[in-house]
Amino acid sequence: MHLDVPLKVHYYGTPVVLVTTTNPDGTTNVAPMSSAWWLGDCAMLGLAGSSRTTKNILRTGACVLNLAPADLVGQVDRLALLTGEPVLSAHKQETGYRYEPRKFEAAGLTRQASDLVAPERVAECPIQLECELVTSHDFGTAQALQVRVLRSHVDESILVPGTAYVDPHKWDPLIMKFCDFFGDARPLSASRLAEGWAMPGRAPA
Ligand SMILES: Cc1cc2nc3c(=O)[nH]c(=O)nc-3n(C[C@H](O)[C@H](O)[C@H](O)COP(=O)(O)O)c2cc1C
Repeated sequence: MHLDVPLKVHYYGTPVVLVTTTNPDGTTNVAPMSSAWWLGDCAMLGLAGSSRTTKNILRTGACVLNLAPADLVGQVDRLALLTGEPVLSAHKQETGYRYEPRKFEAAGLTRQASDLVAPERVAECPIQLECELVTSHDFGTAQALQVRVLRSHVDESILVPGTAYVDPHKWDPLIMKFCDFFGDARPLSASRLAEGWAMPGRAPA
């Protein structure tokens, strides 16, 4: 029986992205987010308007989407209640956030220069997408930011050898379900989409 449940959170399981952006003083901010989806070389990001990340993207038109692997959960969690925004919203004050201008150091993450955009990459993330802002939509408390991937960096350890394809057996994304972290993804079955797309490195049938 289905119950009428007024859910507080609609995070059903999405990869955690560490978004890097450029602060007004030229330093790189890094923030976790999970409301992201992709279609082709475009991504749509759902971000609170009060976040330093949102303000930085709207001001500079650039960001890097660093896809967090499951084994980065400790560093991601250390970022969870930090903001690069000096003026905290009432919600952030109530939920225990604090201003931290040096988040890479606070989380124990390593900076890596980008090729095409100003924000640095997160070296520990095997997939890093340098992006430019295409357009934004104001949803009141949140912004939907459409960005285009300009360059994708993929660590060779997760590639199907000799190809430009990520091996889904080797890529273990950190997943946010409701408000908890999950990882260690196991293959369930082969997908018809992968068959139609002639994708290598597929799950066994
Ligand atoms: C795992 C995780 C996922 C998150 N997902 C989102 C999200 O999708 N959108 C959002 O606005 N905030 C999200 N947050 C909260 C932001 O990280 C938070 O607002 C943070 O202050 C942003 O940092 P900034 O102010 O320096 O940009 C998430 C936090 C965590 C820990």
